[in-house]
Formats: sequence, structure tokens, C-alpha cells
Amino acid sequence: MPRVYIKTFGCQMNEYDSGKMRALLGKDGFETTEELSDADVVLVNTCSIREKPEAKLHSFIGRVLPMKRQRRVIVGIAGCMAQVDGERLYKKYPKVDLVFGPDAVSRIGEMVATAQTRRVLDTEFLGEEGYPFPSDVDPESAHRVGAFVTIQKGCDNRCTFCIVPATRGDEVSRPIAEVLAEVSALVAQGVKEITLIGQNVNSYGLKIPNHPTFADLLRAVSAVPGVEMIRFTTSHPRDLGDDVIACYRDLPNLASHLHLPVQSGSDRVLRRMKRFYTRAHYLDVIRKLREARPDFVATTDIISGFPGESEADFDETMSLLEAVRFHASFSFNYSPRPGTAALRLLDDAVPDSVAQARLERFQARQREIAIEEHARLVGTVQRVLVEGPSAHDDGVVCGRTSTFKTVNFPGEAALTGSWVNVRITRGFANTLRGEAE
Ligand code: SAH
Ligand code: SF4
Ligand code: F3S
Repeated sequence: MPRVYIKTFGCQMNEYDSGKMRALLGKDGFETTEELSDADVVLVNTCSIREKPEAKLHSFIGRVLPMKRQRRVIVGIAGCMAQVDGERLYKKYPKVDLVFGPDAVSRIGEMVATAQTRRVLDTEFLGEEGYPFPSDVDPESAHRVGAFVTIQKGCDNRCTFCIVPATRGDEVSRPIAEVLAEVSALVAQGVKEITLIGQNVNSYGLKIPNHPTFADLLRAVSAVPGVEMIRFTTSHPRDLGDDVIACYRDLPNLASHLHLPVQSGSDRVLRRMKRFYTRAHYLDVIRKLREARPDFVATTDIISGFPGESEADFDETMSLLEAVRFHASFSFNYSPRPGTAALRLLDDAVPDSVAQARLERFQARQREIAIEEHARLVGTVQRVLVEGPSAHDDGVVCGRTSTFKTVNFPGEAALTGSWVNVRITRGFANTLRGEAE
């Protein structure tokens, strides 16, 4: 059997797309390999959200291309960098056989076949009408407790810092029947936890009259027999309506956690980012979520050093962290992206050292808050969905609470996929330790 090796950078969308490529190539007789040296086809699924993830492509390709001197191997660059920079990559790496964007994933089989005889560059955006969401399920999900299910592709927002609209195209909602069919197929394979993914899941269906909304979709997925936990990502604070908040009151298998990227605590910066919500609105959404679900936990994304951000603006981000007490966050320095509107603001660029100092201030306080929140859980009993043996410790298993806490505790691998009541004995910055009751 021919073998394919897939390297994935970037977010859940890319992980999901890589799974679809595994599934589609599987139908053509490929098996996946974890060994680069075994592969007949090597695909790298790229990310261009910031400059740093982009650098990873070049170092990976630098390792792979020399393999071609020894044997025949097809090398492909997929994903967001390929979409926005395909032509340049195609020219820069004449030994690369395939360059294609996210919209071409459904055609991976034909592209790999064509690449046997000639090079392929495919960065066409497909229209919204009849957008082909592949329905084949990633073969690896059979071994997993949780799986992603895409509900939407692309993004119609234009946050001024963000390259995603250029890499993923316009927003298209996946038909609800297809989403439910994929959820059922995953549950039949033993998956217990479903994470619905999209760039702005709250706008699901809104472009089409009488289409089910995201809240309708949540209720429908929640009712699929065998779905024990539902998560979703990513939400935009402007579009998260009371109908979705009501789901936190009504749906017991909806997780007590939401990742709600705020980016900044300053209204002035939020305006310049074109996020179209205010700090007060964000705080109001968090308050309502807590009313609906008393143990609700929020996590977020922060950008430090957006052009024009003053020390006072960043103090607002720090005070938002105190007001919400996020349990975790992804925080990065602003990275200018080609073609984005924020490039016009670069006259006001924040010096790197200033951005970095702000970032470190934020991360240090975030870490303290996480440790404080986790210390409060010591002595409590948490329900944990076991995901499998710990990667680091023999005889220890690892799982997650509804609130998205990673919990490690002594236990057998056979517990994978079951719920265990765990008494928490220690809290760390990112994980909890405990003992089964
Ligand atoms: N659709 C999601 C975000 C997707 S990008 C949303 O709207 O919330 C994931 C995160 O990357 C963003 O939340 C943002 O914090 C970060 N990000 C995006 N572009 C960036 C840039 N140019 N520089 C630094 N961080 C960026
Ligand atoms: Fe980017 Fe904004 Fe769309 Fe998120 S909502 S993907 S940050 S443009
Ligand atoms: Fe990166 Fe594309 Fe995701 S740019 S963050 S892989 S949508």
C-alpha cells in the first residue's frame, strides 16, 4: 500500500482538513504513516496567522526535499500559506509537486494522481453554492474520545489584523443534515465528545433565510444519542446571542466552558481592530453565561502591541483579565499580515520590545490567576472524561472536565472513554492532579 505522511500546523480547521485528507486518500488505497522516511506522499498543511508559523513551513520543507534525491516521493504544500502565497511557493520550490489551498481538500485524490506526471497549483476558491464539505470521517477518530466537526468554512468578518478571510474565503454554512450525519458516524465509532468548528460559529446559517441558527444546531447535536459532551470554537463576542446563552441553561451535555477571543480590553483598540463590540458588551456576555451556568469557565485570545496601542490601552486589557479571570488564554504579539487593513496603521507601530514587555506582563498575571483558580479546586470532586494514558507518566491517565481542565490521575488505559469521579489533590498552571474516588 502507498503511504502518506501529513504534517499539520495551525488551528483546528487544519487538523480537521488533514483528517479529511487521510480519509479521502484512504479511499484511494493510501495508509497513513508517522514515519517521514516511509512516506510515498508527504503533505504539509500550513498556517499563516502570524509570521512565526510561516517559518515552520520553510524548515519542514528543507528537511523533506532532500529525500527526493534518494527515492520517488510526492511533496505537497497545503493550507493557508498555500492559499495566500501559492504562486510564490510554487516558484520558490520547483521540487514541490503540489500546492493547494483549503478549498481544494475535497480533490486531494485527483491532485495526488495528477502529481505523478505533472506539478499542480490549485488555489481557486469554490463558490458558496454547493460547497463540497467532504463527508468521509478521519480514520484516526476511531481511536479518539473527541473529534472535530466542521459546521462552516471561511469568514465574512474583516478584523483588521487577520489574514483568515484571505486564506479561507467567504463564510459558507454546512447543511445541518450533513453536520448531524457526521456527528452520528463519529459516535458510531466510539467518539463521545464533539467539537463544532468554524471561524465564527455564531453566524452559522444567518445568511440564508429560514436556515437553522447556531442555537438550533447546538440543540440538534445535543440530542444525537451518544453525544456526551459538546464544545464549539470559535465564537465571536458580537454574534453570541441570548439564544446560544440559553443553551447553557438547557443542554446538560454542552460543556461549561467557552473560548471567547476578546483580543483587547480597550474600546479604542477594539474599534481599530474592527471587532464591532465593546468591553462592556463582552463583560455582559460573560455575566449572562455565568448566570446560565454557575460553574462556567472562560478562556480567550489576546493580541499585544496592535498598532496604536498605548500603555493605558494595555492596562485595560490587564483589568479585563482581572474582571473576567480567564482560566487560560492564547496571547501573542501582533504580527503584520500581508493584505490586511491594519498595515495602514503601521505608522503607529508599537516597538517590539514594548509589545513583548506587555505580553509578558499579561502572561505572568494569567498564570497566577490560573494557579489561584486551580488551587480552589483542590479537595473538590470533578467528573472527568478520560482521553487515554498520559504521554509522560506510566500508570497515569489523562482526561478533561466539562470546564476544559486537563486532569491527570493514576488509572488504567482501559478507562479511556469513560467518566470517572476524581478528587483533585493538586493544581498547577495548566493541569490538575487527582485520585479516582
Ligand atoms: N475566528 C477567530 C480567530 C481565529 S485566529 C476569532 O475571531 O476569534 C486565532 C487567533 O489568532 C485570534 O483570536 C487572534 O488572537 C490571533 N491572531 C490573528 N491574527 C493575528 C495577527 N496578525 N497577529 C497576532 N495574532 C493574531
Ligand atoms: Fe479573523 Fe476576525 Fe474572521 Fe476571526 S472573525 S477569522 S479574527 S477576520
Ligand atoms: Fe492558521 Fe489558517 Fe487556522 S491561518 S490559524 S491554519 S485558519
